[in-house]
Amino acid sequence: MDTQKQPDSVLVIDDEAVIRRLLCQKLSSEGYSCKEAATAEEVFDKLRNGPTGLVILDIKMPGKSGIELLPEIKAAYPDTAVIMATAITELSVAIQCIKNGADDYICKPFNLDEVSLSAKGALEKRQLQLKIREYQQHLEEKIEEQTREIRKIFLGAIEALVFALEAKDRYTAGHSRRVTEIAIAIGNALDLSKSDMEDLRWGSLLHDVGKIAVDQLIQNKPGKLTREEYEHIMIHAQVGAGIVKPVANSRVVEMIEHHHDHYNGTGLHQVAKGDEIPLAARILAVADAYDAMTSERPYRSAMSRKEAVDEIKRCNGTQFDPVVVTAFFKTAMAETVPTEA
Ligand SMILES: [Fe+2]
Repeated sequence: MDTQKQPDSVLVIDDEAVIRRLLCQKLSSEGYSCKEAATAEEVFDKLRNGPTGLVILDIKMPGKSGIELLPEIKAAYPDTAVIMATAITELSVAIQCIKNGADDYICKPFNLDEVSLSAKGALEKRQLQLKIREYQQHLEEKIEEQTREIRKIFLGAIEALVFALEAKDRYTAGHSRRVTEIAIAIGNALDLSKSDMEDLRWGSLLHDVGKIAVDQLIQNKPGKLTREEYEHIMIHAQVGAGIVKPVANSRVVEMIEHHHDHYNGTGLHQVAKGDEIPLAARILAVADAYDAMTSERPYRSAMSRKEAVDEIKRCNGTQFDPVVVTAFFKTAMAETVPTEA
């Protein structure tokens, strides 16, 4: 036995005191820490008292038998090994007990060396099972951590692509970073959870990656867009969702897909409306619109912050979710707007 660790604890369950003592003496002399129980009630008292590596369980006991106790012990303490103690005439019962979760059986009258070998074997098997489980858990955690890291790297690469796309165009340079700042401020005002905030940040940073599929000439057209041109530009929401889908979680994908949805359901080819639109997409809609309005566009100059705030107010409940608009007005962007234009 390993002298560095705590001795394995063994509970001997038998209605005969002589047998309990005999087994405990032998196992204690081998370095195990032994406890005894004579009845079913005592068994669970002793098991509750501290971790027990092994139970030696007599099959034939007055009241609840070992056969009945075995499934109860295994259900409450699945990590405890069980050896059935049986008379030679009950061998078939002992074998049935092994099928029901016992680890081994020993026969009366006991050969104490065999008892000791059986206890050692059952405890070693238990240790091995515990180690395998610990290793599997560790492995699963490691895989999860690495998956998170790989996702982050891929999302970071898409983010770099967005910034490169925006940098090419003086009208959109810095748009996604500013939108992210506003969306995060709204998310904070809504007291979103840490993981929701993380999704909001990624969805905001990557929301316009689908513009890679949009014709630059149409996007930078100085005049009013035709219906076809508008429809062409709006494909970026679907395209963007498709680009991030292999690496982002479904919440980020849906946020990008729905970021041009109108709260009242009147957006282009829109299916969802109201609260069916993911909250993160409703937040992004306000942040995106505010930054777009306060930025210069090929077809108009930038609106003042007051004009943009007034426009958000005007579209409250139609294009934008009132809950999000209220949160937007709690953020620094809206608070610092001068009262006069
Ligand atoms: Fe967009």
